[in-house]
Amino acid sequence: MVVEFSLEKVNDVAKRLLAQAAGYQVLALQGSMGVGKTTLITAMCRELGITDTISSPTFSIINEYQKPGSSSAVYHIDLYRLQSKAEAVNAGVEDCLYNGGLSFVEWPEKFPEIFPPQTLHCKLTIVGESLRRLEIIL
Ligand SMILES: Nc1ncnc2c1ncn2[C@@H]1O[C@H](COP(=O)(O)OP(=O)(O)O)[C@@H](O)[C@H]1O
Ligand SMILES: [Mg+2]
Repeated sequence: MVVEFSLEKVNDVAKRLLAQAAGYQVLALQGSMGVGKTTLITAMCRELGITDTISSPTFSIINEYQKPGSSSAVYHIDLYRLQSKAEAVNAGVEDCLYNGGLSFVEWPEKFPEIFPPQTLHCKLTIVGESLRRLEIIL
């Protein structure tokens, strides 16, 4: 899947990416600062029916959201500020990635070795002022 989209289409893209992510527990979204990772993950969370406040986990590292009608949490993780794999482990990142719930991860390229084999790896890049390209890395 490769798609170029503007902000107005982010909900459609979120829907399509979630369909591609069926059966995966971790969705890792690479891409530079300001490319739209948090925006796309927020749209996927809304698509899942999450009504919690969704914010960038840049400082919290892990945000936990409740999906209505589901007992398992949805984790929104940002590895940007972590310095080492040990810090990621101490922050509880691995617990989230391996506990069977759904995790969305920003900056996975910082510690690619912590991801389970069953991770859907995706990448966002800037194409133009308001245009982004999403690709699934297989
Ligand atoms: N096609 C697009 N998709 C997503 N965000 C876009 C798009 N075009 C422009 N933007 C803007 O880019 C910014 C992305 O911010 P954010 O989602 O926080 O990025 P990141 O989490 O990758 O640092 C937002 O201000 C958003 O409005
Ligand atoms: Mg972000």
